Amino acid sequence: MAAEGSHARPGRDAAVTASHPMRPSTAHTAFGVYVHWPFCLSKCPYCDFNSHVRHAPIDEERYVRAFVREIETTAARVPGREVTSIFLGGGTPSLMAPRTVGAILDAIARHWPVARDVEVTLEANPTSVEATRFRGYRAAGVNRVSLGVQALDDAALKGLGRLHTAQEARDAVAIARAAFERYSFDLIYARPDQTPRMWRDELELAIAEAAEHLSLYQLTIEPGTPFFGLHAAGKLKTPDEAAARALYDVTQEVCAAHGLPAYEISNHARPGAECRHNLVYWRGQEYAGVGPGAHGRLDIGGARHATATEKRPESWLMRVEAQGHGVVTDERLNSEERADEYLLMGLRLAEGIDPRRYAALSGRALDPRRIAMLCDEGAITVDPDGRVRVTMAGFPLLDAVVADLAA
Ligand SMILES: C[S@@+](CC[C@H](N)C(=O)[O-])C[C@H]1O[C@@H](n2cnc3c(N)ncnc32)[C@H](O)[C@@H]1O
Ligand code: SF4
Repeated sequence: MAAEGSHARPGRDAAVTASHPMRPSTAHTAFGVYVHWPFCLSKCPYCDFNSHVRHAPIDEERYVRAFVREIETTAARVPGREVTSIFLGGGTPSLMAPRTVGAILDAIARHWPVARDVEVTLEANPTSVEATRFRGYRAAGVNRVSLGVQALDDAALKGLGRLHTAQEARDAVAIARAAFERYSFDLIYARPDQTPRMWRDELELAIAEAAEHLSLYQLTIEPGTPFFGLHAAGKLKTPDEAAARALYDVTQEVCAAHGLPAYEISNHARPGAECRHNLVYWRGQEYAGVGPGAHGRLDIGGARHATATEKRPESWLMRVEAQGHGVVTDERLNSEERADEYLLMGLRLAEGIDPRRYAALSGRALDPRRIAMLCDEGAITVDPDGRVRVTMAGFPLLDAVVADLAA
């Protein structure tokens, strides 16, 4: 997902306090902060994200104190980085009160310098209740929302176990449009019984509502989800490989025709409107993860650390209260692991990877015979400057391409 310098808007107003003013962007190095809000109103049957349903009210004040503490501890490990993007993901961050979001953003701005053009994204579910909070989020410093629309068809939404209707989603998009200069929404395709014709029509409708960015995910049957059991029992039929490929081809064709080409395997944007935060992941740049089950990649003492926090919200809370952070995994990646990660993430991007960076990370060059073979098969191309990119034909086979190059 992404870096869109030219379309970035001035950052939050509320975080600019007399004692901690936003600093203008001076560095060119990206540094992202991911904040995970782990609660949802109900669990969607396809979802294996770290999201939890609680019937008792959530003590947001207590969570805020823990977020602030973990931000402080993390910033002490990687001080002085200039924050270029913040992503509040979930779960359902749009269940948070705007003042909770404001307090988290203020804590980030107190502990790190923040770029003037920082991108601050919040993931929101498109229900009418949540849309009423959008202006509060804007005032708190959010400048981009990513809405989980998933489908623009009521029967499909019901099948996905969503709590909103297509009309409600459209209304939420209209409210987002009025409150934010930048917004995106997610759709899930390759749903049961979905034909290329149906998907084309739905996508055209979506593009009419979208401004600059769309995330279009093929339905994945994740182990441990209710959909997995139904699928295994033959009660949920998803498109086979050929049908899924036809739906993928429709996605590429329709989006490109409307000026929203894929810049990543599942993400489409007008040039310059890519999600800057997600580009940090895919480009192998540095980011901090705070909140339950958040992952980070931190450069400390010349080594890249892969961090992960406790997933269960209540256990995370207790760990943070006891020791100032919820980190349960902190591994130094060796050169091979770093290089493989660069390949795995970077090849998802249309811009591809720089083989010189791969060689610098791993200590060995990519095998020219394998590159030539994949080029002959039409799965990758090599630019005159040497960058390796996966082609549109190669994207559906991405895992195999990565495995081949990394071998
Ligand atoms: C963390 S979730 C979304 C945020 C928000 N809670 C929502 O559901 O609207 C991020 C996105 O991942 C996608 N997603 C989640 N599970 C998926 C699955 N099994 N297959 C395809 N896409 C999935 C959905 O489009 C979802 O909006
Ligand atoms: S898809 Fe979104 S709303 Fe549904 S359970 Fe997952 S995180 Fe929660």
